[in-house]
Amino acid sequence: MARLSVIGTGYLGVTHAACMASLGHSVVALDIDEVKIAALSVGTVPFHEPELPELLQASIASGNLAFTSSWSDVAVGADVHFLCVGTPQSAGSDAADMGQIRAAVATLAPLLSKPCIVVGKSTVPVGTAQWIADYFEANSPAGKDVHLVWNPEFLREGFAVKDTLYPDRIVLGVSHSSDVEVLREVYASALKNDAPLISTDYATAELVKVAANAFLATKISFINAFADLADKVGADVGTLADAIGHDSRIGRRFLNAGIGFGGGCLPKDIRALQARANELGLGEQFEFLKNVDSVNKSRRARMVELAREALGSIDGKTITILGAAFKPDSDDIRDSPALDIALALANSGAAVQLHDPVALPQVRARNLPVTAIDDVSEAFANADLVLHLTEWKNYRDLNPATLGEKVSCKRIIDGRNVLDREVWSNAGWHITYLGKPGSLAAL
Ligand code: UGA
Repeated sequence: MARLSVIGTGYLGVTHAACMASLGHSVVALDIDEVKIAALSVGTVPFHEPELPELLQASIASGNLAFTSSWSDVAVGADVHFLCVGTPQSAGSDAADMGQIRAAVATLAPLLSKPCIVVGKSTVPVGTAQWIADYFEANSPAGKDVHLVWNPEFLREGFAVKDTLYPDRIVLGVSHSSDVEVLREVYASALKNDAPLISTDYATAELVKVAANAFLATKISFINAFADLADKVGADVGTLADAIGHDSRIGRRFLNAGIGFGGGCLPKDIRALQARANELGLGEQFEFLKNVDSVNKSRRARMVELAREALGSIDGKTITILGAAFKPDSDDIRDSPALDIALALANSGAAVQLHDPVALPQVRARNLPVTAIDDVSEAFANADLVLHLTEWKNYRDLNPATLGEKVSCKRIIDGRNVLDREVWSNAGWHITYLGKPGSLAAL
């Protein structure tokens, strides 16, 4: 089994480290945040991800996984180093902030004195891998014997363990074909499960990742533009998505209309791609992503507008919001449409009663002008309006009859288009969707 290191213990790094260790590899994972390392060392995952805590604890107990903040532990203790640091959006522009990548590469390079492979998994602007390969060659004692492989990651939050253990493809950007064989051993278990392996050059591998996220974002904004059109003309966007989705060239997945996409990946990745395309003189070809972004942002404004239409005025009203995370099975509130809408309503004078099954600690840590309520039925107390904004399964199982007794007005807008119209209507609620009119008139 291989000796691996994982550099960066965010979402990607922790999941990758725990999964690789569970497959029998010996893994040392590094972060410069010593508080995080201390927590991970005793099996505490600092975010919500199904199955991950159990896997992490089992991997530590097996002796296959250790955490460190010492770079020399990593350089000496592993032959394959996975680079998993973050590439968030830059503070002042749409481009990716490459600070963490640059710092990790600059710290690691002088410590690499024996032949090894560095495997980049972070999402980066095209051209980065070649730059890193050249940097290692010029700045590592092992020089040309430090090989770089680019291996983008496609895991989804909420399914991170499953996506890592059973990836639907493995993409390797290489400059030495012998490195593919080493990675075949590392990923032997996934390959045994028939994951296709695509071996290519650095630039293609880098682009596969951003192209995939850009395509997914485009699908969502595409259907959301149709949701607005459906509202105007009295059509049903859900039926429309089902019907076009039967065409296998289109496919039904990622055509769920609603308040749009958020999180730490899709929004920043489409912006970074545009920024890189601009640098390469291809701004016009990638202009459509600007539109994808603006349709997506307009969903949030549309929800606030619907709330205003329903209430007359938002000021002084009590609004219950179901969901703060950017998607279910996650406590990630980065660029969360639900939280953005909650804040816009609070800033317009509403008393916002916010519930989420797991993300409330993150909300409380940010000291926002909303009341975070742990008990979902308490969150309904005296509400003039309820908004369903993150499609947690337990919200679909709520009992609208009992909850109807708690609110001031039985009115709900489903920003994710998944609540059962009949169940809520039969309990006396006005229910509204995005792109599925019929109840719009009731507002
Ligand atoms: C996304 C990609 O799906 C992963 O393949 C990729 O690896 C990851 O980014 C990354 O770059 O690391 P993730 O951010 O976990 O994964 O979230 P998604 O499942 O893609 O959902 C993104 C957003 O789109 C959520 O806010 C979700 O509610 C929204 N969405 C999704 C819709 O509004 N409609 C849909 O039909 C599907």
